[in-house]
Amino acid sequence: MNNEPLLRLFEARPGEYVSGESISQELGVSRTAIWKQIRKLEAAGYHFEASRRLGYRLLSVPDNLTGDTVTRRLESNVFGQIIHMFDTVESTQNLARAAAEEGAAEGTIFLAEQQLSGRGRMGRGWVSPRGKGIWMSMVLRPSVPIHFAPQLTLLTAVALCRSLKRITALPIGIKWPNDLLIAGKKISGILLESAAEDERLRYVIAGIGISVNLEEADYPAELLEKATSLRISSGQKWAREEIIADFLKEWEQLYFLYHDQGFGPIVTLWEALSVSLGKPARLITPQGDIVGIPIGLDESGAIRIELGNGSVRSVFSAEMGEPL
Ligand code: BTN
Repeated sequence: MNNEPLLRLFEARPGEYVSGESISQELGVSRTAIWKQIRKLEAAGYHFEASRRLGYRLLSVPDNLTGDTVTRRLESNVFGQIIHMFDTVESTQNLARAAAEEGAAEGTIFLAEQQLSGRGRMGRGWVSPRGKGIWMSMVLRPSVPIHFAPQLTLLTAVALCRSLKRITALPIGIKWPNDLLIAGKKISGILLESAAEDERLRYVIAGIGISVNLEEADYPAELLEKATSLRISSGQKWAREEIIADFLKEWEQLYFLYHDQGFGPIVTLWEALSVSLGKPARLITPQGDIVGIPIGLDESGAIRIELGNGSVRSVFSAEMGEPL
């Protein structure tokens, strides 16, 4: 017996006892089969209360992430249809890249409970402790020229920000280009790595790190000033599978919108969520620092900076320094 119908039955009656007899009638299985299945679920980390008179009641579900628990919540049609779930990996980016080279379909997802060498932007690492966050890489095969790749980074930031705000109601904003912040501290990072041939993208690996249930002790001391998690900011734990499923739905809608209508609608959404616009900033580039006021995005995804002399300059890639 597959455990899905039994789990759905309990999920439809949160906190309630369900008698063995009614389960047996609803699922068309014997009471012994139900008992065996409950034992299996308990071994997988589910907790039930059993009463001779009232039946079974689901008390808690396991905290570990499984492809199944995500799949059951999915509302997207392409992204997340194939999920590869791992316990410990070096980086989900590496797995997704290798799979993309082997022809993995667009929308294939790689998730891990922990990463030993999580990668961030600019050659930095990414703190990825076991069971505390969402460490995920998605295979994309967008039919756009290579110089449009930065647009996908901004699109990903918009999708993630909209989804996390909807779920948590926390005041989350986007710092250019794609950091998600709560009160100036980072809760999520996005890393796009691509492979191209003749000016066209063969594939893009979108890496997404969301610090969901990390506690202060999970961060190295020097990061605590700059980083936070949904749990630290809200004082409560969050269900990772719900966030993944909601994000994938939001991502897919925006990705299809982008293919249909171009980058314009994404610019509008990004600007509405940005915490970088209108505030004097220092942009650090290999060619030197640029100081000015970010005023918006241009149609390629570069940020438009108003300089001291009133002229406007577009910057494609830089690190945004501390607020001035
Ligand atoms: C950043 O520097 O802000 C980007 C961080 C991206 C982290 C994610 S976690 C899943 C995927 N695997 C990695 O090694 N990095 C990305």
